Amino acid sequence: MDTFDAVRTVMAVREYAGRPIPQESVRRIVEAARLTASSMNAQPWHFVVVEDREQLRRLGAAVRFGPYVANAALAIAVLIECSSQFGVSDASRAVQSMVLTAWAEGIGSNWAGYLDLEVVRPLLRIPDTLDVLVVVPFGYLARVLEGKKRRKPLSEVVHGERFGQPFE
Ligand SMILES: Cc1cc2nc3c(=O)[nH]c(=O)nc-3n(C[C@H](O)[C@H](O)[C@H](O)COP(=O)(O)O)c2cc1C
Repeated sequence: MDTFDAVRTVMAVREYAGRPIPQESVRRIVEAARLTASSMNAQPWHFVVVEDREQLRRLGAAVRFGPYVANAALAIAVLIECSSQFGVSDASRAVQSMVLTAWAEGIGSNWAGYLDLEVVRPLLRIPDTLDVLVVVPFGYLARVLEGKKRRKPLSEVVHGERFGQPFE
């Protein structure tokens, strides 16, 4: 799958098949995160890979906007250094790297929760110096996604030369 096709077709996946994800794919997904560029190359992030079913259930129960985490093959908690000015943007890029790498292999994922994830701290024994940005569940798709991306039209959000001028 080429890069644009991955961007064009990827969707938020909240239902997962029971099938496990091979370790080489898991490794590629976390490598994609690790290789992502960050401001001043600070890499102000950590990634906790959760594959244990009981822990996934606990995460699903804890993350208010992501109960489906419980049914994922695995989830990755993305942590950012509290002291980092660019932690959110840096780690968000790492999330996108993981999401697209997984998608290219037929693995769906989604953002579950966003900051305000203190509930996850004790579960994963996260030190006070780090915040939880997001929990990202991964899994093969339970069913073919019939949804079509709903996005604003190009003419509404892309401008040519100056704001408000059409982009040809
Ligand atoms: C920063 C961010 C936070 C999100 N938080 C959640 C969330 O807490 N729970 C959830 O189910 N989806 C979450 N999503 C997924 C979006 O709702 C989803 O990507 C969006 O509605 C567009 O749908 P699509 O990706 O299928 O096109 C989040 C996405 C982003 C980028």
